[in-house]
Amino acid sequence: MLKTSSIFIAIGFVVAGAGGAQAQGPDVGEALYNQYCATCHGSSGAGDGPLTEIMMEQPGDLTQLAANNDGEFPMLQVIHIIDGRTGVRAHGGPMPTYGAIFSAEAADQMGYGSVVEVRGRILSLAMYLESLQK
Ligand code: HEC
Repeated sequence: MLKTSSIFIAIGFVVAGAGGAQAQGPDVGEALYNQYCATCHGSSGAGDGPLTEIMMEQPGDLTQLAANNDGEFPMLQVIHIIDGRTGVRAHGGPMPTYGAIFSAEAADQMGYGSVVEVRGRILSLAMYLESLQK
């Protein structure tokens, strides 16, 4: 139940943010993915980005997140990985590389508008990842 209600809250944030200067949507998720994630995870999400040649730890195949989770896309888990709460090791804990772009905590310190924008970005990205599932 918690899972579903959290997603509804997240969607609420996107809807609330849609009227603002930075409208969010699938295209936004794709653009964010290509800008911040594809270097490692590859443009298809399969884990074959250019940076992997010099990386010690290989990123997982992001097109298999649902398949690895009994066929259900682990939306909340993915949101938490992106916003840093899960602390995936290769992302250096709370993804310091991205600073406040995807950090809910950092956004909290900057006021409501920023929180809305950050949540919108995270959800756009998570929904884009969901669309990559095979
Ligand atoms: C510097 C390279 C790098 C970048 C950039 C990067 N990742 Fe990752 N990511 C990894 C690696 C490596 C792993 C495997 C992590 C581990 O087990 O420590 C991973 C794991 C993940 C996982 C968990 C995969 C699974 O199978 O459970 C998700 C989801 C994820 N990344 C999403 C993203 C998103 C979204 C972005 C962009 C905002 C991003 N990553 C940017 C390297 C990267």
